[in-house]
Amino acid sequence: MRILMVCLGNICRSPMAEGLMRRKISEANLDWIVDSAGTANYHVGSSPDHRMIAIGKQFGTPIHDLKGRQFCAKDFDDFDLIFAMDQSNEKNILKLAPSPEARKKVRLILNELHPGSNQQVPDPYYGSMADFENVYVLLDTLTEAVKNNLINDKNR
Ligand code: 4NP
Repeated sequence: MRILMVCLGNICRSPMAEGLMRRKISEANLDWIVDSAGTANYHVGSSPDHRMIAIGKQFGTPIHDLKGRQFCAKDFDDFDLIFAMDQSNEKNILKLAPSPEARKKVRLILNELHPGSNQQVPDPYYGSMADFENVYVLLDTLTEAVKNNLINDKNR
């Protein structure tokens, strides 16, 4: 299984989702591949936001070594599932989809926990440390749901 986490900047939500997913995959001895990307190019080559790095470290999920990159059409070939953090991300991902099959790979990550709810992982960039902590806790739950849904084959 090849999983891509996508947000806007690839410095807050999607690198944290990647870090959490990597940890769960490793703890469960799964051989899945995980990466993350942003729909925007503002932070290509940058480390994650220092506030997200600090919360990840505090809760045992280091992400300081990740680097930002932009989502591109080739990601539809390289990944089986593409998880968008919000509907704006989802819309921008779908704009690059080369085929109906490719479109089917794209999902809102919150629908893994609350199917059909179309809720979003809030962007913490202009928020407080409490907002970053809330995003961590939410993504911890969501990546656990992604893992369990895939193991139980509910999602394929
Ligand atoms: P992310 O958060 O999409 O969770 O990485 C953001 C990071 C940067 C910006 C916006 C959102 N920005 O406008 O630079």
